[in-house]
Amino acid sequence: MNLVVLGVQWGDEGKGKIIDFLAEGAGAVVRYQGGNNAGHTVVIAGRKFVLHLIPSGILHKGKACIIGNGVVIDPKYLLEEIAYLRKNGINIKNYLTISENASVILPYHKLLDTLSETKSKKGKIGTTSRGIGPAYVDKVGRLGIRMVDLLNKKVLAEKLENNLALKNFIITRYYGEKAYSKEQLLKEYLGYGRSLKKYIKNTFPVLFQQVKGEKRVLFEGAQGTMLDIDFGTYPYVTSSNATAGGASTGTGVGPGAIDRVIGVTKAYTTRVGEGPFPTELTDSTGEFLRKQGNEFGATTGRPRRCGWFDAVVSKYSAMVNGLTGLAITKLDVLTGIKEIKICVAYKVGGKTYKDFPADMEKLAKAKPVYKIMKGWSEDITGVKKYSGLPKNTRLYIKELEKLTGVKAVILSVGPDRSQTFIQGKIWEK
Ligand code: GDP
Ligand code: IMO
Ligand code: MG
Repeated sequence: MNLVVLGVQWGDEGKGKIIDFLAEGAGAVVRYQGGNNAGHTVVIAGRKFVLHLIPSGILHKGKACIIGNGVVIDPKYLLEEIAYLRKNGINIKNYLTISENASVILPYHKLLDTLSETKSKKGKIGTTSRGIGPAYVDKVGRLGIRMVDLLNKKVLAEKLENNLALKNFIITRYYGEKAYSKEQLLKEYLGYGRSLKKYIKNTFPVLFQQVKGEKRVLFEGAQGTMLDIDFGTYPYVTSSNATAGGASTGTGVGPGAIDRVIGVTKAYTTRVGEGPFPTELTDSTGEFLRKQGNEFGATTGRPRRCGWFDAVVSKYSAMVNGLTGLAITKLDVLTGIKEIKICVAYKVGGKTYKDFPADMEKLAKAKPVYKIMKGWSEDITGVKKYSGLPKNTRLYIKELEKLTGVKAVILSVGPDRSQTFIQGKIWEK
């Protein structure tokens, strides 16, 4: 039984928490896309960990944690994350594996990311400035550097030479910034190769054995469906496939081996960065959600934009991911709100849309049509099972299930690993 766990909305749904919770029953956890633009928070008995690149299964002893070929890796940052985990007593050595085919983020990617946001004529996307977009551009442009190249001086030197010819031209002539030295980058990145050599492997046979055997594999999504390069609010998206298909292309495990797809969704919505967000609240309710939900980015610390649950988005997400179950997080954050709204359709220029539009101009003008639900005032942070939830919370969950067309299989009522419970089949046939 192999599961994909991914974000239904614009990221930060609580994927890290749900992956950590499910990892107990898994043999391996594999990240399939994105890079250290992700920030996955796990809280265990009050102790908080934030993971950006290493799969969120690493906090359980003995789980194989794999960084798949679809990921873009900043090796300098990765070494920092390894050091951070070590300092906190987490053993990585025998558990972490990095795909030889994963792409490398270089300093010029980070610079180009920042420059494209600040100096180019196109609008700002509000990226995390981690070099994600430019690294994927090189991958698709067939001139990217892969993790395996960090172990081969000749190949790395050639690839750097090729890359820098054009990159330095753009950096100096178009942006008026300083050129990169090939020798300096070669020395630095060969050094990272030496430090990471023990983790860099051919991950395909490893994963193949895991999925063929009785081991359970969790595929960890980063970002969210609405940030997906194909299905998201383009161009205000990230540069990879955060949706379920990415789990196959980003790991080398065929779709036939994937049994279930669990979509993690907040009980409301948030978004970081620019782009359309129909249910955004810029009033005191938005402020309440930001405060109660502690909605500040785990990667950049930016305040997250907050709004009501958008069922048009979740229905679309259920469709493009083939969701088999929902994990609803942050239900506790809604406690105390008298009337909770759910967006069931959009109105654009007098017309009503129940399906998510591909035309972003339409989406930017969309006015949400709301269904109003009664709230609850009881503290639910200690609830351990569905029947322990207040009636109105249960009615709210039922409504989200009905509108999305997917059953809620996991519910989360606080940030801690212990504040999570299962409400349906996860690993069972
Ligand atoms: P991810 O990127 O999807 O892993 O999510 P983030 O870690 O970026 O953001 C989710 C935030 O919500 C983190 O601060 C979590 O600790 C927190 N969180 C997750 N689930 C719950 C929940 O059920 N209730 C509350 N109050 N916080 C939660
Ligand atoms: P997790 O995995 C929320 C957003 C950025 C920006 C856009 C493009 O923690 O859910 P990028 O740096 O990827 O080129 O930025 O995507 N973004 C995220 N928002 N959570 C994330 O990851 C995100 N990763 C990228 O804010 O709008
Ligand atoms: Mg996050």
